[in-house]
Formats: sequence, C-alpha cells, structure tokens
Amino acid sequence: MKLFAWIAYWKLLRTKPFRYRALFREINAHKPRRLVEIGVFNGHHAAQMIQTAALHHPMEKVEYYGFDLFEDLTPELLDYEKSKQPPTRAQVQAMLERSGARISLIKGNTRETLPAQASALGVVDFIFVDGGHSVETIQSDWEHIQPLIGPHTVVIFDDFYENKAQDVEGSGCQGILGALDPAKWQVEVLEPADRFLKEWGTLVVKFARVRRRA
Ligand SMILES: C[S@@+](CC[C@H](N)C(=O)[O-])C[C@H]1O[C@@H](n2cnc3c(N)ncnc32)[C@H](O)[C@@H]1O
Repeated sequence: MKLFAWIAYWKLLRTKPFRYRALFREINAHKPRRLVEIGVFNGHHAAQMIQTAALHHPMEKVEYYGFDLFEDLTPELLDYEKSKQPPTRAQVQAMLERSGARISLIKGNTRETLPAQASALGVVDFIFVDGGHSVETIQSDWEHIQPLIGPHTVVIFDDFYENKAQDVEGSGCQGILGALDPAKWQVEVLEPADRFLKEWGTLVVKFARVRRRA
C-alpha cells in the first residue's frame, strides 16, 4: 500500500518554486524507472523525483544517475555557471541511498563527464537538465544527452525564459530549444511559472519538455 507515498506526491503538487510542480507531474504521468539529473545540487529534488518514480515501480528497481561538479565547483565556475554551491558527492550519495533506489553520482564538469560516460547508460526514461546555466554548457549538455533519448524519453529543461527570445545575461535554454528542428523534436513549455524581478523587468521562468518525434 503506497498511501503515504501518494500523500507525499499530492503535497509535491503544491510545492514551491511553482515550476517544480510540473516536474513531479511529468514523472507521475510518464512513470520513468531510469532517471538522469544534470545538476544534483543537494539532492533534495532528486529524492522527491525518486519517490515519485517509485509510485509506479518497486523502489529497488528505480535507477537515478546524477551528474554534478559537487566539491569540484570552483568560485570561478560558480560565477560563470550562475550556480549554487552543492554539498560533497559523499554527503549527497549517503542521503539519496536512504531511499532504497539505485544511486550513481558522477562528479565532474558535464562538458567532460557527459561525453565520456553518458552513452554507456543507454536510453533512459527521464532526464532533468539543470546543471551549469551558461548557454555554452546547456548546449553541450543537450548535445551529449542525445544518445540517452529514445522515442519514449522525456527531457525536462529548467530555465526556459518565456518572455525572452534569446539568452538573458548568458543563460537560459529558450534560444537552444527554439533552434531545434520541429520535424525531429517536440518542445512544450510547461506551466506553472516562477517570476523574478530584475533591473530590466520581470523574468518569467518555466520548465520545458522535449521529446524526440517518432
Ligand atoms: C541549480 S543547481 C541544481 C538544482 C537541482 N537540479 C534541483 O532541482 O534542486 C545547479 C547544480 O549544477 C552544478 N553545476 C554547475 N555547472 C556545472 C557543470 N559545468 N558541470 C556539472 N555540474 C555543474 C552545480 O554544482 C549545482 O549543484
């Protein structure tokens, strides 16, 4: 009986930041068993993603692969990637292992770790792209996760700046997704949004879902 797990999921549908509600809704709808997250940070949302996936699979069958710099994040990269300082890999590994899922955390810059290691994972069910925020890193991450994307894989991007055609202060995925070939890729911007006041006005941030067309 998964009553408590379902209650936890229903609470996630009211979580903040608002746009994360779409992340958990997508996991519940598509029922992924093998999940990849680019940009793990403290593993808090990873644990919630895993719990949501386990609504539909035995926990011990859920596989989570997380890519992050962890303790390799330098002050320069923190600034360049407009990032947040994560805990150590070992701390996040210990926390996520408490879920009972199969946890693999890959430490390093995804510009190097994804080309070196991602294709060995084969096709996965769900990918959340939320690592480095520079347009160059998002572009690199997108290129290197393509061997993981099958016809049923759901890819969620954070940092789709809805009211901006191009990047904002060097970040945002809307320029990259806007340039995708619509004959090959289906892109949908998800509700709800978060709004951030900037010097120049309000930045509207959403998640975007990308799927390979059959
Ligand atoms: C915004 S946080 C991720 C938040 C997390 N996805 C969540 O929902 O809670 C970004 C993370 O990406 C990592 N990161 C930034 N640039 C990276 C890079 N080039 N390669 C690997 N990880 C990177 C940072 O260490 C940080 O933990």
